Amino acid sequence: MEKILVTGGTGYIGSHTVVELLQKKYTVIIADNLSNSTIEVVDGIEKITGIRPYFEQVDICEKEKVNALFEKYKDIKAIIHFAAFKAVGESVEMPLEYYQNNLISLMNLLEVMKKYNQPGLVFSSSCTVYGQPDHLPVTENAPVKKSLSPYGNTKQIAEEIIEDTLKAHPDLKALSLRYFNPIGAHPSAFIGELPKGVPLNLVPFVTQAVAGIRGKLKVFGNDYNTPDGTAIRDYINVVDLARAHIVAVERILAGKQKSNYEMFNIGTGRGSSVLEIIQTFEKATGEKVDYEIVDRRPGDVEQVWADTKYANKELGWKADISLEDTLASAWAWEKKIRKLK
Ligand code: NAD
Ligand code: WQD
Repeated sequence: MEKILVTGGTGYIGSHTVVELLQKKYTVIIADNLSNSTIEVVDGIEKITGIRPYFEQVDICEKEKVNALFEKYKDIKAIIHFAAFKAVGESVEMPLEYYQNNLISLMNLLEVMKKYNQPGLVFSSSCTVYGQPDHLPVTENAPVKKSLSPYGNTKQIAEEIIEDTLKAHPDLKALSLRYFNPIGAHPSAFIGELPKGVPLNLVPFVTQAVAGIRGKLKVFGNDYNTPDGTAIRDYINVVDLARAHIVAVERILAGKQKSNYEMFNIGTGRGSSVLEIIQTFEKATGEKVDYEIVDRRPGDVEQVWADTKYANKELGWKADISLEDTLASAWAWEKKIRKLK
């Protein structure tokens, strides 16, 4: 089967995507510098699939090493590019590190695509490009709004870099997936999310709080203009998200794109408030979530969820896994890594 290069393939979303690729019999080469993941993730992937993907410890910002990858593995047919730094708050403290890591890695890959006549790229973008949209659910045609963080800005600039490069090189092909809020873990609990330090995202904080590692969950604001006052997001199961990458790669390989650069919203099409997440987690797991309401978190948007019609129709993909099963999988993973019963 075709060889697919997965940068950031030992990370959270990358590892779940590698599992789906291997199960579809693709040959997978992971390139990751392990800056935010561990080599044990490859063992988890192998436990699930029975196949060990190739693994190369490479910084995608090092152009010569990226070239060497393409010399070593001939005939890579597509790249799925996950490798990036992703912590919004950290990006405010360390903007240059974020711009360098997230943009140089992308530019190196685009250069190598030209050089090795390797036409396909699937890029990890984010709903953060929409900011607070004027209309909900948000479609792919909504305007990109000025980013509130250097991290978000790297995604906007990356999309522009891809667009400009593909205009100049119509033989290249790319597709950006704008993820909403990925959560949950593989149902086997052999892989999942491994946040470093105190989790900033809601669901990892909830699972660690319930595991007794953190204090109470702080709910950031209940005075938003939403039915229960808490902010609304579109939480998508990471396995559903991983599967979107398979159809994206297959669309590129089959030459089915409508133009050589396309973008799609990857969400469930349904918004959930913070309090709904807490209630659904409690229902799905039988565990109690202790929480308190505190002030809003600066920079948070009030509400956003995806219009997924375009992705559903064009990609023939939709998110299937329920929020309850997703939150149960997040808890099963937390219990597994903390060795809880
Ligand atoms: P992650 O940190 O778990 O995975 C990223 C992986 O990339 C890590 O394994 C890290 O070691 C690796 N990496 C980083 N820089 C690298 C470099 N220069 N060279 C090689 N490897 C490098 O993050 P994730 O949540 O799996 O996110 C994957 C992608 O999806 C990122 O581009 C992220 O911005 C994007 N995204 C994530 C979310 C989310 O909420 N998790 C939402 C939207 C978009
Ligand atoms: C979700 C909701 C919080 C933690 C971030 C990035 C975005 C994208 C996804 C990559 C919000 C509330 C959270 C907590 C809380 N990543 N919350 N208490 O902010 O939608 O998006 O991750 O591209 O770019 O900004 O996700 O999980 O941090 O927050 O009340 O301890 O949960 O206020 O309403 P967010 P999140």
